[in-house]
Amino acid sequence: MNNDAVRLVEVGPRDGLQNEPQVLPVETRIRLIERLAAAGLRDIEVGAFVSPRWVPQMAGSDEVMRCLAPLPGVTYSALVPNEKGLEAALASGCRKVAVFAAASEAFSQRNINCSIAESLDRFKPVLTKAREAGVAVRGYVSCVLGCPLSGDIATADVVRVSTALYEMGCYEVSLGDTIGTGTPYKTKALIEACASEMPLAALAGHFHDTYGMAVANLYAALDSGIRVFDSSVSGLGGCPYSPGATGNVATEDVVYLLEGLGLRTGVNLHALVESGTFIDRELGRMTASSTARAINARRGRTGDRMPS
Ligand code: HMG
Ligand code: MG
Repeated sequence: MNNDAVRLVEVGPRDGLQNEPQVLPVETRIRLIERLAAAGLRDIEVGAFVSPRWVPQMAGSDEVMRCLAPLPGVTYSALVPNEKGLEAALASGCRKVAVFAAASEAFSQRNINCSIAESLDRFKPVLTKAREAGVAVRGYVSCVLGCPLSGDIATADVVRVSTALYEMGCYEVSLGDTIGTGTPYKTKALIEACASEMPLAALAGHFHDTYGMAVANLYAALDSGIRVFDSSVSGLGGCPYSPGATGNVATEDVVYLLEGLGLRTGVNLHALVESGTFIDRELGRMTASSTARAINARRGRTGDRMPS
């Protein structure tokens, strides 16, 4: 990747929609993903092969995956919690998956019904089978800057789980501030600690905006050398175990920030805002993106035309 390029992983169709109260039809989810790809997003997490009893919003992820037309340079990925999930993902044609662990024991139990150690053991055969199938595996660590169930999290626990995922074969580990309690200095300290045990280039930032800190934390992570960020169109989402938690940092806000810093995202901001408007209408919600609000307000004043 060039020094002035940043890679965005669009997680709205997964992390966003899994946390919206409404369960959207597969067709609507596909239309959202197509719009996001048309806006220039190249790495899109489109679903999760998890138990539909645990996360009904992600039921039909196999159909979503099968119906998406391949596009040059665009990768559609999905979460898998175990071998069963991987098998379903592979059967649907998925070529990139993500396993997800937590830095908090309590969150691990609540989210995937097992301890951190058990989850890492479960992931080993997933990594082996994915490698045999030529499928890349990303890793997530949740609760890196706080847990909705047990509060503060020791940095050493985040480092331990992140390095375990990397050493297992995950090409990248996304550090998730699941409930958005992080602040910029804490973010930088965490990245430095992780990067002392694994390559900085294999780390990604995943910020939620509950306390309005997501853009500030992302900027701090950028300053620490992170060049891969997860974000969600229109700031979709929340956290089922954390009342009041808001969604991921809005992709629109991230694109506005990065392009303003002279970094290339490859995303057409106006097409992205349209994608957000589309999904917000489907869900009957207001955007959580300040950038989208500003652009839409300006568009209203200029006769429903996007500002140039
Ligand atoms: P369990 O109940 O312990 O699983 O759930 P089990 O192995 O005992 O099986 C129970 C039933 O689930 C069985 O079906 C299995 O076949 C089925 P039954 O015989 O009762 O009919 N099952 C599955 N079904 C579909 N897909 C599968 C699968 N595996 C077993 N892969 C399990 C364990 C992991 C399945 C469950 O806890 C689960 O699905 N959890 C998903 C939780 C989730 O998706 N959370 C959100 C993602 S994490 C996140 O959002 C954070 C992140 O964004 C980063 C951040 O923000 O920090 C990544
Ligand atoms: Mg998340």
